[in-house]
Amino acid sequence: MSRDTKKTAAPFVPEDRTLPVLREAVQKCRGCDLYRNATQAVFGELEDDSKPKMPKVAIMMIGEQPGDQEDKQGRPFVGPAGKLLNKCLEEAEIDRRKVYVTNTVKHFKWEPRGKLRVNKKPNMEEIRACRPWLEAELDVVSPKLIVCLGAVAAQSLLGSSFKVTQSHGKVQQTEGFPPIIATLHPSAILRARTDEDRHSQTRTFVQDLREAAALVSR
Ligand code: URA
Ligand code: SF4
Repeated sequence: MSRDTKKTAAPFVPEDRTLPVLREAVQKCRGCDLYRNATQAVFGELEDDSKPKMPKVAIMMIGEQPGDQEDKQGRPFVGPAGKLLNKCLEEAEIDRRKVYVTNTVKHFKWEPRGKLRVNKKPNMEEIRACRPWLEAELDVVSPKLIVCLGAVAAQSLLGSSFKVTQSHGKVQQTEGFPPIIATLHPSAILRARTDEDRHSQTRTFVQDLREAAALVSR
């Protein structure tokens, strides 16, 4: 059996499960090959987690992977998708300070297109390899609800046959997790081909976020 079938972050994840310790340790992760072409790992965060006592996290949002800006800045959702996410969270009246944002894989996977670095979807092996970091984050953060942004995050938690287009905005229960709601990915909305599509997708996204807001306020 090839050693490649055994890619996992597990040996790199420290026992001490606090955000600062995990965040430092993820920089040394070699659990799969994605660290090779990335600037740095991008761990999840609360908008302000410098406070000694972490606020009660209502929602953990899981995206796909860091993008170009996130890779450079070392923080999740700080580029165009993050700006749209923040705007829609505000519209859905979700307190951004109680939202922990993270990604399914922690290193940026990309391919060159001219001078640009464009996202390349992580494969199953990479997603599986990175899972121990996500589990460590869930342990520490202990959110009331998970919101999966897009198919990569949704299928990684809910199985590869899960369809965001069919089941977005509906609460999913799965063994060992808090309730999960899947919705669109803000980057997908930004890629919509017409204004009309973009507007209707944004409305769907905000509606799903409102469902999430209602659930955590109960
Ligand atoms: N898209 C993601 O999925 N995650 C980020 O952090 C930024 C863009
Ligand atoms: Fe480790 Fe995840 Fe980065 Fe792969 S993507 S090297 S498993 S942190």
